[in-house]
Amino acid sequence: DWNMPDYISEAVEKIRTQVGTDEVILGLSGGVDSSVAAALIHRAIGDQLTCVFVDHGLLRLNEGKMVMDMFAKNLGVKVIRIDAEEQFMGHLAGVTDPEQKRKIIGREFVEVFDRESAKLVNAKWLAQGTIYPDVIESAGKGKKGQTIKSHHNVGGLPEHMKLQLLEPLRELFKDEVRKLGVALGLPHDMVYRHPFPGPGLGVRILGEVKKEYADLLRQADAIFIEELRNTPYEFVAGQAVDQENLPKNWYEATSQAFAVFLPVKSVGVMGDGRTYDYVVALRAVQTQDFMTAHWAHLPHALLGKVSNRIINEVRGLNRVVYDISGKPPATIEWE
Ligand code: XMP
Repeated sequence: DWNMPDYISEAVEKIRTQVGTDEVILGLSGGVDSSVAAALIHRAIGDQLTCVFVDHGLLRLNEGKMVMDMFAKNLGVKVIRIDAEEQFMGHLAGVTDPEQKRKIIGREFVEVFDRESAKLVNAKWLAQGTIYPDVIESAGKGKKGQTIKSHHNVGGLPEHMKLQLLEPLRELFKDEVRKLGVALGLPHDMVYRHPFPGPGLGVRILGEVKKEYADLLRQADAIFIEELRNTPYEFVAGQAVDQENLPKNWYEATSQAFAVFLPVKSVGVMGDGRTYDYVVALRAVQTQDFMTAHWAHLPHALLGKVSNRIINEVRGLNRVVYDISGKPPATIEWE
């Protein structure tokens, strides 16, 4: 166990020695690891760091604004936001196979990142938020493309990118990364967020990805997350929570929670009219390591409120279902 201020000054010193006066580029995803890496490197070398935030159009509601506010506005980090929604939607049009979708998103991500970062700075270093479990995982055998977490991960860089890797979190576990993030001034809620997959909503929209679907899903997902955060935790039978360290609300009591868009229409009634709209599924799981997971026994009142709000507030959705599958045999994501 290390002392935080000492740890930060040592890490800062190490980064300064490593990069000298060189420019560094970092792909900011909004996730915990890349965010903490950005905050730490910025502490060390300030404006020698440029962050590139690629918006692939598959982010959660207001995610782009949140990232820009947190880094550019509050921390004074140089961040460039690239709006690549059209490029991603264009390449995803007509594609329904989950693995194919993942490949396209990963490939386009590298393409946008390389193209834009080459224009921006003459960087000598590529910074990444690789943490210790990533190092271990990539030494073993990954599954389902997950070792290729976001773009160029632990496996090294594409040959043409002659950049050196800067990975200041390589020795840290997730809980240490979170503590470091808070100590560096990142908001607590941001640092303790649920994980979000690199392909984003691309794997939460079943089959073909369309902007219309992503917009509906974003709204439903935001309502679900807001209600989880706002509902105080209470004991419900069948839960797997840490009894020593009781969660404050249902967001904290779950390891991952999100909505999934089903491109299926069903009939409903609203007022005196008939509707024929899409379905969303809610997924909430409790897990230690994400390799196995239990579905969360959320209170029925919470589920009822989320369902009512989604159907009343999101035009285009008229049915909400709850996923009660464990992993295995189901996976956490639906694709
Ligand atoms: P599954 O669905 O395999 O998910 O049970 C386990 C954990 O991994 C995350 N996940 C991904 N993360 N790129 C990522 O960065 C991916 O392609 C990917 N697929 C799944 C998932 O969100 C869950 O936390």
